[in-house]
Amino acid sequence: MGVQETKDEKSVDKSADRIREMFGEIAPKYDFLNNFLSIGLAKRWRKFLVAKVYKSLVEDVSGVSRVETLDVATGTGDVVIETHRQWKRVQKKFGGDLQLVGVDFVPKMLELARKKADRKKIVNAEFVEGDGMNLPFQSNRFDAVTIAFGLRNMADPQRGIAEMTRVCRPGGVVAILEFSPTKFPVFASLFRFYFHKILPAIGQAVAKNSKDAYRYLPESVDAFDKPETVAEFMRQNGLEDVTRYPMTFGVLGLFIGKKRV
Ligand SMILES: C[S@@+](CC[C@H](N)C(=O)[O-])C[C@H]1O[C@@H](n2cnc3c(N)ncnc32)[C@H](O)[C@@H]1O
Repeated sequence: MGVQETKDEKSVDKSADRIREMFGEIAPKYDFLNNFLSIGLAKRWRKFLVAKVYKSLVEDVSGVSRVETLDVATGTGDVVIETHRQWKRVQKKFGGDLQLVGVDFVPKMLELARKKADRKKIVNAEFVEGDGMNLPFQSNRFDAVTIAFGLRNMADPQRGIAEMTRVCRPGGVVAILEFSPTKFPVFASLFRFYFHKILPAIGQAVAKNSKDAYRYLPESVDAFDKPETVAEFMRQNGLEDVTRYPMTFGVLGLFIGKKRV
């Protein structure tokens, strides 16, 4: 299947300036709305992402002295915090220390992430400003590279995947959590109504912004690459054993793959 056939991004402006301004404007309300509009499911989704990453990692890092993870488009740092939280459970399997890095190109998001990590007394997390399509890290550095609800926002998602893979070490894990239009019978039409009508109205009312961020959300999901295309991008960019776990009636999915050794 050709990559071009699966895209319809003409109507969605994903220029870096627009995306940066939009997330900068909604940053103070991001956590509240994220929780509220997902009826608390966003936390569970991130838990699932992190659990799968550790499960995949544990196969070949036992005995290493340090595990280092990167979360791309980290926003207010929730995946970093969840990675830290689950570490306590899996630490004995690894036998080393954990170092966490989150990267995002919106300074306001990073400021909130740092504050949240400080409040939780997480001392092994660093939040760095940078673009997911041109990551400011050396190649082959991280044991695991994650992204949650960020890839869809990149003007060139394939480049985002290539960058995540580049900074991941051979044998390490790349994991992508992203929405997709659900086709689940009956549920799909109800969800579409919620996603396209109710969510933008609530989102805009709570997080007033000039970029219509909560209308952009469903539009960007509709315009995003099909799951098969994302999986294909992952394979083309050097990942193997690529698996997709559909979640919550197909509203989103977790893609996970290992960098070829
Ligand atoms: C929907 S939020 C997701 C935040 C977080 N990962 C979560 O789970 O809640 C998307 C984030 O992606 C960031 N982002 C979008 N495009 C990016 C890019 N090219 N480089 C770095 N960050 C980007 C935005 O600034 C925003 O913080």
